[in-house]
Amino acid sequence: MKLWGGRFAKSTDHLMDDFHSSISFDQRMAEEDITGSIAHATMLGEQGIIPQADADKIVDGLKGILADVEAGKIEWMVDAEDIHMNVETILTQRIGEAGKRLHTGRSRNDQVALDVRMYAKKACRETEEMLNDLLEVILSIAQDNLDTIMPGYTHMQKAQPITLAHHMMAYFEMFLRDRRRFRAAFDAADVMPLGSGALAGTTYPLNRERVAELLGFADITQNSLDGVSDRDFLLDFLHAASTTMMHLSRFCEELIIWNTNEFRFVEMDDAYATGSSIMPQKKNPDVAELIRGKTGRVYGDLMALFTVMKGIPLAYNKDMQEDKEAFFDARDTLVKGLTVFTAMLRTCTFRREVMERGASGGFTNATDAADYMVKHGVAFRDAHEVVGRLVAHCLNENKALLDLTLEELKAFHPVFEADVFDDLSMLSCVQKRRIPGAPAPDMVQMAIDLGRKRMAE
Ligand code: ARG
Repeated sequence: MKLWGGRFAKSTDHLMDDFHSSISFDQRMAEEDITGSIAHATMLGEQGIIPQADADKIVDGLKGILADVEAGKIEWMVDAEDIHMNVETILTQRIGEAGKRLHTGRSRNDQVALDVRMYAKKACRETEEMLNDLLEVILSIAQDNLDTIMPGYTHMQKAQPITLAHHMMAYFEMFLRDRRRFRAAFDAADVMPLGSGALAGTTYPLNRERVAELLGFADITQNSLDGVSDRDFLLDFLHAASTTMMHLSRFCEELIIWNTNEFRFVEMDDAYATGSSIMPQKKNPDVAELIRGKTGRVYGDLMALFTVMKGIPLAYNKDMQEDKEAFFDARDTLVKGLTVFTAMLRTCTFRREVMERGASGGFTNATDAADYMVKHGVAFRDAHEVVGRLVAHCLNENKALLDLTLEELKAFHPVFEADVFDDLSMLSCVQKRRIPGAPAPDMVQMAIDLGRKRMAE
């Protein structure tokens, strides 16, 4: 018989068991469920709501079940519906009568809210550690490439020279913001809902603060209806996960482009590429492509939960059982993606000479040529016009700006002098960009040093 079977004259159709049972996926929360029940039972005993001897038996029994779960010795039962009733059923089978007192003053509605909050907190911490590993790899590539010149792009057109270090530090900022988002998601989950009961609290004198303390929660929920029907913290996690995947995906897209025969900026390690079954020469950047592809799944998970939640009246409705698969799928995709991406990035070889050569083509120093004229008294708009004509001339002659002689330059404007050649070298273009946030090597060094401090916060 079902744990809730008292008022029913018939058992559920077997089609129902299959359809509404969540044990196939919520068994992942066994540890959280059991730990939560241990805290609840401990508090019930302390408050004298159930006899202390029963509380002790329950706690011992639950510890035994947890050990067996960890040892893989438990067989979950589909007809016990979910992780909550599975654990309670096994407990009562093992310790008898006392097991039937565990659910005093509790509902599966506040119990499942507790379990997902605990699982979300764990997922946020895990993600934070993985982001830290990635940030370290980015910092070390940046540190090694302070003066590795490369072309910076807008519209995928060569724009101005930057350095690989500067480019890497852009991703540092993105992933550091992601870490902050996971911390915010952690805080949102860090509120203890037990005591909300099914929806209207409970008549027993529960000590909710004590349960929060036992489970390491910062606070307790303030409204019982909201306590059982809030899944905002999962949406916060899914949003943080979606944004992180979007950042990974953009990084992957760049690595895929840089890895092409046309660019050759980067060589991916053989360990993170695959071959073709027909074309013997191929080495494909599958890892990067898969992460780019899997980003869509995580967006889908976010959209799925938003959609589940949008029409639900207060308080708990069974729709909310749909929260877990989306959340777990996003968590798994993110964890796998971050792990393999960090490993792949760590083993990438950047071809410095190719990047540097790439920077000198495409008139990336044209803005600097205009700036040179401005420094010698010409108005920027006039300088822009002169350099534009210089570029057109060079395009006709198939030359770069620095291939012109001083005489040729002077024919366009008398302001040019011999020092222009130094001034427009790629290195000098980068070195002149010396304000906070800009690519000059000493500025990027400052950003790296500051970045280390911000990471430690
Ligand atoms: N398996 C359910 C879920 O994941 C647990 C809560 C069920 N509560 C209920 N009254 N049916 O949401």
